[in-house]
Amino acid sequence: MKSFIINSALDMHLHLRDDDMLKLVAPHMSKNFVGALVMPNLISPITTKDTLLSYKNRIKNACKEDKFTPYLTIFFQVDYSYEFLKDIKDEIIAVKLYPFGVTTNSQTGVSSMDIEILRPTLESMSRLDIPLCVHGETKGFVMDREKEFLPIYESLAINFPNLRIIMEHISTKDAVELLDKYDNLYATVTIHHLLLTLDDVAGGMLNPHVFCKPIVKRYEDRDALLKVALEAHPKLMFGSDSAPHLKKNKETSTGGAAGVYTAPISLQVLTQLFEKHNKLANLNAFISLNAQKIYNLKPENKVIKLIKKDFIVPKVYNYKNEDVVPMLAGETLLWSIE
Ligand code: NCD
Ligand code: ZN
Repeated sequence: MKSFIINSALDMHLHLRDDDMLKLVAPHMSKNFVGALVMPNLISPITTKDTLLSYKNRIKNACKEDKFTPYLTIFFQVDYSYEFLKDIKDEIIAVKLYPFGVTTNSQTGVSSMDIEILRPTLESMSRLDIPLCVHGETKGFVMDREKEFLPIYESLAINFPNLRIIMEHISTKDAVELLDKYDNLYATVTIHHLLLTLDDVAGGMLNPHVFCKPIVKRYEDRDALLKVALEAHPKLMFGSDSAPHLKKNKETSTGGAAGVYTAPISLQVLTQLFEKHNKLANLNAFISLNAQKIYNLKPENKVIKLIKKDFIVPKVYNYKNEDVVPMLAGETLLWSIE
């Protein structure tokens, strides 16, 4: 195959950041994708309508003329009232829940996953049909954090049968197995969890640029994720979790930040991966149609043509003083965007 068409690509888990970083990374996404679910974990997380709407404006400005819809989210709080959620419903696609301190900018996350504490907000969301996106990790041993969280997903799914619950960036075989157990459970998966294992982070020389939360795991986990992605399992969506950090905050002796930057390479990498496994026929479902059905989206038509031509991933992206290193920096991909 010499070329491949992707229609209205959607990224259902994206970090666009703010200020200069937003100006650098937003165009990487808005050029090729028609829309993305934007995470609310800014340094001051988004919890009000005013901050949401002004962030939306800054995103629109950063995307310039591109045909691109940011689907915004707010940061889960246990004290959101029904009236507040009703008022903000048309401006958001979902509410994102972070347990306290499990990842970047989650210091204002929930301090307990006790269902009774979460119930008022979740009940309102359920009544208003606002989906819940969850960063599902405990504070346990780093390789077990997602697995330890799975009973919480089960209890959420059982207690709120009308709430759509999205297990974000699933990273284990166990989470894949949970997907089919409850009608109201869905998931996103990233490129790095489809391609990498812990060996790529720390098996040889340390690579801080592929360090993320949840950490990439075992071969059997990667293979289980890859299997459902390649078959475009209808409850699974592409969510890059593209999460840029400054190079100096990744390559540092004071504790490297978690997050992998994949926005500028997603379409090329996914095309290469699906072609390698002879599954290109499923790529549009994985990268757009599944999300359209799960979130009831009707994105505009945006056609991106990929051609079989080498693309050398830049070593670094730079805007003013911001330097960001993408995943696969300096490597050659087999597909380019025309
Ligand atoms: C994300 C970030 O940097 O905002 N980091 C990450 O490792 N994935 C937050 C998140 O999605 O966990
Ligand atoms: Zn994320």
